[in-house]
Amino acid sequence: MAGDIKARRIAVISGKGGVGKTVITANLAAALAAADNRVLVLDADLGLANLDIILGLDPKHTIQDIFQGSCRPDEVLVKTEKGFDLLPAGSGLHENTVLSKNLVEKMEALLIDLEDRYDIILFDVGAGLGEVVLYFATLAHQILVVVTPEPTALMDAYASIKVLNQYYEKNKFLLLVNQANPEHPDRNGITVAKHLQSVISKFFDASKSPPVYLQLIGSLPRDPAIPRSVKNRQLLFETCPPAVSTCFVNTIANNLRTNFRGA
Ligand SMILES: Nc1ncnc2c1ncn2[C@@H]1O[C@H](COP(=O)(O)OP(=O)(O)O)[C@@H](O)[C@H]1O
Ligand SMILES: [Mg+2]
Repeated sequence: MAGDIKARRIAVISGKGGVGKTVITANLAAALAAADNRVLVLDADLGLANLDIILGLDPKHTIQDIFQGSCRPDEVLVKTEKGFDLLPAGSGLHENTVLSKNLVEKMEALLIDLEDRYDIILFDVGAGLGEVVLYFATLAHQILVVVTPEPTALMDAYASIKVLNQYYEKNKFLLLVNQANPEHPDRNGITVAKHLQSVISKFFDASKSPPVYLQLIGSLPRDPAIPRSVKNRQLLFETCPPAVSTCFVNTIANNLRTNFRGA
């Protein structure tokens, strides 16, 4: 990837909802910020935004105010106490579930405005395969697909990768296996990644679209500290005693940073 990219944009997607995109995005942002990266998290789940909830914030303005022209980006940006900045979004706003010309123009201007200030911009994208979801995936330099080992989550990840490959010529995806268990053959992150890669290689028509390469960026175990942290509106590093999954998040953040250098 070109070396002149200012802020590396990573879209966190999954297809299926509830697999851990938001909780992972928020915790990865804190880990990346702790490792001296200037990080912005953009709540790209424009219909059902909830990063502010997870972060214990009650923002006055949202990204939709920028789209409507009633706020400047600096009036919406929240400097969180977790080391990174947030562009919160509103929830229950039906108009932003559809990709409008205005949304595209405002997003492009917003990214140009912000890209000098950050090393990494994470998009916490919504579930499904709607046009706003696909738009944020195509805006990103890297797409991080979150899956759990359940067949439903794998199927939806497969479908998302297929659409992004066949219609948008995306062929490199980072993969994060959530709710993994290294001791269990069906839940081991490496096994899950190999399985998904083999299904993709078998069923995608390589003559019509570029072959797809999945790169496993890490696994996260099921950890009761995660729902507890969500309930407390905190991140894992803030929980006491320190959560087991915190060191997994740090490893994934480190793998992401290494991947930037190598990309
Ligand atoms: N590794 C995990 N262990 C235990 N619970 C988890 C884990 N990852 C996610 N969860 C739970 O799943 C819920 C849904 O996660 P969320 O990040 O909101 O999903 P998404 O953004 O993909 O819809 C969280 O509130 C959290 O309690
Ligand atoms: Mg979410």
